[in-house]
Amino acid sequence: MQTIRFDFNPMMAEYVGEHGIPRAEMEKMAGAMRDAYAMVEANRGKGMQGWMTLPYDQDEVLSAIEKTAARVREEFDAFVVLGIGGSALGPAAVHQALRHLHYNELPKEKRGGPRLYIEDNIDPERMAALLDVIDLEKTCFNVITKSGGTAETMSQYLIVLDQLKKAVGDDYRRHIIVTTSKEKGYLTKIARQEGYETFYIPDGVGGRFSELCPVGLVAAAVTGVDIRGLVAGAKAMDERCASDDAWKNPALFEAGLMYAAMGKGMNMSVMMPYADSLKLISDWYAQLWAESLGKNLTLDGKPCHVGQTPIKAVGVTDQHSQLQLYTEGPFDKVITFLKVEAFRAKTPIPHGCDDVPTIAFLGGKSHNQLIEAERQGTEYAIYRSGHVSQTITLPSVNAETIGQLLYFLELVTAYTGALLNIDAFNQPGVEESKVASYAVMGYESEKHSAKREEMKKRPASDPDYIF
Ligand code: PA5
Repeated sequence: MQTIRFDFNPMMAEYVGEHGIPRAEMEKMAGAMRDAYAMVEANRGKGMQGWMTLPYDQDEVLSAIEKTAARVREEFDAFVVLGIGGSALGPAAVHQALRHLHYNELPKEKRGGPRLYIEDNIDPERMAALLDVIDLEKTCFNVITKSGGTAETMSQYLIVLDQLKKAVGDDYRRHIIVTTSKEKGYLTKIARQEGYETFYIPDGVGGRFSELCPVGLVAAAVTGVDIRGLVAGAKAMDERCASDDAWKNPALFEAGLMYAAMGKGMNMSVMMPYADSLKLISDWYAQLWAESLGKNLTLDGKPCHVGQTPIKAVGVTDQHSQLQLYTEGPFDKVITFLKVEAFRAKTPIPHGCDDVPTIAFLGGKSHNQLIEAERQGTEYAIYRSGHVSQTITLPSVNAETIGQLLYFLELVTAYTGALLNIDAFNQPGVEESKVASYAVMGYESEKHSAKREEMKKRPASDPDYIF
């Protein structure tokens, strides 16, 4: 198995200067990092840390997923994921990383599996657009919601169910696969009543930690991803991080660095992959980092308001958009580069424009060389401006390296939550908007009526500020 590598040098004060983290500070934090490791380990497989056993206890589930995937690949031309948040970002990130960058446009023989659509919004134009391009008779829908009651996903389900019944009559059940909690929520009951094929999300696996369970693995297997490789990669990373000595555990060291960086006012975390295939890993990471660490109470109930805002960027595209800010703006960011050593394609640059030396110079080289040179150039510019950065290198993008990367980032999140002394596994701040939305929609319940009344008490808008 190829192993991903980490270079934290440009995070360190001894390397980058005053805005970096001094080695002495990391050494002083050794005890706190040991405690963070012990806390995460003590809860392995318990409460909301069920994601830590996914690399070890899914043999049967993997076989069931592979069997279903084979049926779906045989019977359908399109596979649609209906889900939002953790139920969509992981499937999208893995698909982008491990399948062809224009997968849906490939002819069927080259794709091998059905076209994939991940519908993670309720923009009315989007559902209409989806229905314009799929043939319902040849489409399978994977309804993914852990709570089984998320308004966005369940409203999509109702629309699709209605359309399917019109298009295929009683056969609609064959077109729906459900991924949800076994005991909790309404969808598991609906699935049982309807007899839908169902995969279960273990209770201790929250949405943003769920890519390596059926939430992500069903869609991945359907499109031909090596799901055993993904899980093996996660296992390898778990084993590699089995130490409470941060100098032997890269995820713990990274958590310590990020914690120290936050302490120095670096309130933003930019993830900048230099590979389009890793572009959506930044989206997935943004949810993981933001929803896990953005908290206003410590574990002992004290006000804290902590977190680090994740920013999605992609190299080289964002060199021409955000890099100016990263080099000359405030010292409030950590930049994480994702580097790929061996791309799956080589794009040579032909000779030409002989009378323009700076362009002719590119002839005979390749995009592979150019993208890496630009990554090095950007990394150097950030270093030279005194800003911190770090690089995670993937020898190549494959199921095993992606499994390692996802699990590494999950571990970093858990350790950082422990260092911040917050609950990294809940999301109470999301609830307010859900209740308020249902109140606006006119839902009748004590809670929602009270919320409606509360909302009316907002100050009246001052016309001076409305243009
Ligand atoms: O990380 C989380 O728990 C959330 O982002 C959920 O994934 C998201 O709210 C969707 O929830 P559900 O899977 O219950 O539909």
